[in-house]
Amino acid sequence: MRVLVTGGAGYIGSVTTAQLLAAGFEVEILDDLSSGHRAALPPAALFHTGSLLEPATLDRVFARRFDAVVHFAAHSLVGESMTDPLKYYHNNVTGTLALIDRVAAGGADRFVFSSSAAVYGEPEISPVTEQAAVVPINPYGRTKLVMEWALADTARSAGFAAVALRYFNAAGAVGDLGEDHTPETHLIPRLLRSLLDPELTFAVFGDDYPTPDGTCIRDYIHVQDLAEAHLAALLWADAPGLTAINLGSGHGHSVSEVIAAATAATGRDIAPTTVPRRSGDPARLVASNELALQLLRWRPQRDLAEILRDAWRWHRRHPHGHS
Ligand SMILES: NC(=O)c1ccc[n+]([C@@H]2O[C@H](COP(=O)([O-])OP(=O)(O)OC[C@H]3O[C@@H](n4cnc5c(N)ncnc54)[C@H](O)[C@@H]3O)[C@@H](O)[C@H]2O)c1
Repeated sequence: MRVLVTGGAGYIGSVTTAQLLAAGFEVEILDDLSSGHRAALPPAALFHTGSLLEPATLDRVFARRFDAVVHFAAHSLVGESMTDPLKYYHNNVTGTLALIDRVAAGGADRFVFSSSAAVYGEPEISPVTEQAAVVPINPYGRTKLVMEWALADTARSAGFAAVALRYFNAAGAVGDLGEDHTPETHLIPRLLRSLLDPELTFAVFGDDYPTPDGTCIRDYIHVQDLAEAHLAALLWADAPGLTAINLGSGHGHSVSEVIAAATAATGRDIAPTTVPRRSGDPARLVASNELALQLLRWRPQRDLAEILRDAWRWHRRHPHGHS
């Protein structure tokens, strides 16, 4: 199978590319390096530098057809999406529409899309199933939902198979591929980096949530498990139209539990300060992963301790990230 991976120089895209190559797929990457890293590009994949927003780049990439497209490329900072929403609509929506257009015109048979738990907003029921109402509460989440709709309508009419994988919290590392965002907004890398760089602070946002220890509960999924789910989705996708599938562990961990797991993995004492809640942080966000098990025969294999162990190993080896 020949697969185009957009955003393959990014965190989840690079790990998934490595997984696809290991499984014997031929992989090409399209990335503009806006948040990705040249050092994360697996050498065995053909690299096209450029943006989804450039028609000439897409002409070049789609000069040959693909069996499948796996679409990671996006901006994904929730806070920035609130202060600069058009940047998100422009890159995420316009860029994705251009890609869907190429696939609909015969550029590929299958389309796997990186969606997000952000499409659910603040769900009232936990664990969250795919039937839960989709009510995103920020522009980032809304761009993901709009792209799901565009993909669903086009996949049905043009007759290609599409899967929207709604990730919960990706974390962990695989070999030399790890999490390196600027700014870093995710809990685990922020926590681990603060242990390596005394100038970085780490704070807990709120300890008065209606959870057993008062801190927010999230569903952390090892990036290698995510990569394996993409492989399963590529092999499964067949019927025209879009299927949306949650990717999570099915278990929630509070911020305090993550800190305890980080203490165990690093052997360091961690004494964070607590600051007020951030707006828009639901108390609990945990996936039901029953549909992924049923359709993809996929179940995560790695737990929170393994996530912290692998992430810590990567951050110690790469204290300045990929640069
Ligand atoms: N990290 C998470 O926990 C998480 C959770 C839910 C969903 N997601 C989604 O998964 C995807 C990957 O996330 P990530 O954490 O690996 O992000 P990332 O920023 O590390 O990777 C995104 C990649 O896309 C590239 N890119 C962005 N816009 C582009 C464009 N117009 N043309 C070409 N390349 C472009 C960037 O350079 C980067 O390499 C994103 O779509 C994100 O919204 C991530």
